[in-house]
Amino acid sequence: MTFEQNNKGSGLILAIETSCDETAAAVLEDGRRILSSVVASQISIHSEYGGIVPELASRHHLEAIAQVTAKALSDAGVSVDELGGVAATQGPGLVGSLVVGLSFAKAMAVCRGLAITGVNHVHAHLLSIFLEDAPAFPFIGLIVSGGHTGLYIVRDFLSAELLGQTRDDAAGEAFDKVAKILGLEYPGGPVIGRLAEAGDAASFAYPRIRLPETPFDFSFSGLKTAVLTSVKRLPEDMPVPVEDICASFQEAVADVLVEKALYAAKSHGIKDLVICGGVAANSRLRKKVSEESSAHSIRFFMPSPSLCTDNAAMVGLVGYHQIRSGILLKDDADVYSRLFC
Ligand code: KG4
Ligand code: ZN
Repeated sequence: MTFEQNNKGSGLILAIETSCDETAAAVLEDGRRILSSVVASQISIHSEYGGIVPELASRHHLEAIAQVTAKALSDAGVSVDELGGVAATQGPGLVGSLVVGLSFAKAMAVCRGLAITGVNHVHAHLLSIFLEDAPAFPFIGLIVSGGHTGLYIVRDFLSAELLGQTRDDAAGEAFDKVAKILGLEYPGGPVIGRLAEAGDAASFAYPRIRLPETPFDFSFSGLKTAVLTSVKRLPEDMPVPVEDICASFQEAVADVLVEKALYAAKSHGIKDLVICGGVAANSRLRKKVSEESSAHSIRFFMPSPSLCTDNAAMVGLVGYHQIRSGILLKDDADVYSRLFC
């Protein structure tokens, strides 16, 4: 069954994303125009544990998925009968969470005779920029989220080649762990970004881990340990200079990300760079990459903050192109937890 055979020519895709702690659904027209995008966040549930509790995440997806999907359809003014297909995140992510979204999508597809495709969450982040802009293929894609940090050459809507990735913590995970060290809320990225605005980025000389042998790989666990050590070494009677630590830590992360992304572009002779994923919402990173890419004559793109964090619109974008190319899910398709490309 292909998109054309099945969709009555509508080009309307319902997309579902449940890879982590956001239950999201969106309706897209022709893989580009967002007719609706609903994101139900579980942050308030997980924040009291200082991180995501997988079982709670699955249970809350189960509670929210029907309502979130119904809202996406009604916000778009689209009925299930008008849909051309369904796209759902298949992986990587939390297995129990992915199973909820993919099963729901499969059930809809079976009951309504819709085409269905399974989307790689990382590819969805890498291509999310096309909901707002149009970099030229091939481009360098840097994904920086809570679960992933990797550099890619994105060749088209269907293929991306991994150049390198983190050997330990993802960049967002480092933000979240440093926030925990400082007694700040979860997720750490937004609060560290806010506090850093009042801090001095030069106050703590945190390491920039460059890994010259594998220049496209990343490592952030040493940086997190350096922050912990610096806090432990403070004199007991001294209040923790939280703003300065946040600014210095954020600067160290941004330096490495921008340096490696620009090196990847230059060494592959590629002019366009896209930075995406939750950490791409960080304003210091946005400013730094904007300044440094123009100094190197590289065109840089970043989705708006609401498209950097998890959403279903990006899943619909990739899903549209997959369905058009006949990349459909088999009846017995399973979810996958880890990145395979
Ligand atoms: O892409 P995303 O929503 O979910 C994953 O696929 O992981 O990314 C979530 C991550 C969290 O680690 C969060 O702390 C980080 O993105 N994040 C930020 C900012 N907003 C979210 N990190 C730095 N600055 C921000 N403004
Ligand atoms: Zn994500």
